[in-house]
Amino acid sequence: MKIGIDKISFHVPNDYLDMTDLANARNTDPNKFHIGLGQDKMAVIPKTQDIVTLGAAAAEKIVSDEDKESIDLVIVGTESSNDFSKSAAVIIHGLLGIQPFARSYEVKHACYAGTAALQQARDYVAAHPTRKALVIAADIAKYGLNTGGEPTQGCGAVAMLVSAEPSILAINDDSVFYSEDVYDFWRPSNHEYPLVDGHLSNEIYINSFTRVWEQNLKVNQTTSQDYAALTFHLPYTKMGRKALRAIFPSMSEEEQTRLETRYDEAVVYSREVGNLYTGSLYLGLISLLDNSDALKPGDRIGMFSYGSGAVSEFFSLELMPGYKEQLTVAANQALLTARKQLTIEEYEEMFEDKLPLVDGDYDFNDDTTYAINKLKDGIRYYNH
Ligand code: COA
Repeated sequence: MKIGIDKISFHVPNDYLDMTDLANARNTDPNKFHIGLGQDKMAVIPKTQDIVTLGAAAAEKIVSDEDKESIDLVIVGTESSNDFSKSAAVIIHGLLGIQPFARSYEVKHACYAGTAALQQARDYVAAHPTRKALVIAADIAKYGLNTGGEPTQGCGAVAMLVSAEPSILAINDDSVFYSEDVYDFWRPSNHEYPLVDGHLSNEIYINSFTRVWEQNLKVNQTTSQDYAALTFHLPYTKMGRKALRAIFPSMSEEEQTRLETRYDEAVVYSREVGNLYTGSLYLGLISLLDNSDALKPGDRIGMFSYGSGAVSEFFSLELMPGYKEQLTVAANQALLTARKQLTIEEYEEMFEDKLPLVDGDYDFNDDTTYAINKLKDGIRYYNH
């Protein structure tokens, strides 16, 4: 029995900042952002949206009424939680109207959490093949204005419906994991934004990739030729490219070109959105499926998941017959092209405009489907 991703979708907010405008405002050469980091646009979120609204909006696109009766498990992978206790998953479960006899919870380990959630969902469906699981990877990557990490911000959510005999991708049972206790990126509970040693994080990312890649080749008895594409966690799109190139010396030139062409297809959407933390590997996967004509059913796609701190995993997916008919390419592209470009002043204002920290009774005017319309007694009330 195959188990895997039956449906997949993403959602990003309606506003973005062009990286040329950010570069000009920060007295930086725009090529550093466009070429050096590989980012063209950055998604920006208003205060009335959060991981719940992003996650619900992504999930709504794929969860049918029939699915709602079959979902037993709702897991949100995130490092942008609104609450130390209550999970975003139980709120999304309620907003979507999923049948009540379900487990709903949140998982965390930096940008790795979405993969932890996906693998838990796979295990659950393996034990209960007639049931389904909803996995959401949702985050808001914010480092602060005028910080080193600012050009690698972004936000959004990816939702995946996991089932037996999936329509898009089977998840192979070939995971290789790696853990290393290191402080390259962390956010103590008294900090609004993460603390980051950016250059160390690049180094640990590449080292983690080469370690799980080599271990994967050994344990699973594969070579690079067994992979139609390698897809990476994308804090910014140059990062995965650097890791991919780290394993090039063992490959022929033809092999290198093939994998780098697939890589270019996998980063089309992230160049437009920025970092989704937990969701970025999966936005890369959607981008690859939507933008590649070279893939075919039966192909194996390698997935490198990385969460600073650091936990990583390499595993693979197998493309299912007829997967192309399940994709929503036009809708995905329309979501990105219909967005509104912000000026640098609007971006900075939106960045600093936050939900009130003092308890009270607040009403907001945001008529977006899935937005916070009220805050009272520490409870966020959502449009839906
Ligand atoms: N034209 C083209 N490329 C340029 C350039 C220009 N004018 N100016 C700089 N660059 C290139 C640099 O050569 C470098 O490329 P390389 O990585 O291939 O060597 C790249 O742009 C970044 O320059 P760098 O000086 O290293 O940038 P930085 O000191 O501002 O730091 C990050 C970049 C990513 C470390 C920083 O944005 C950060 O801390 N981000 C958050 C953490 C993160 O995303 N970590 C990733 C792993 S999880």
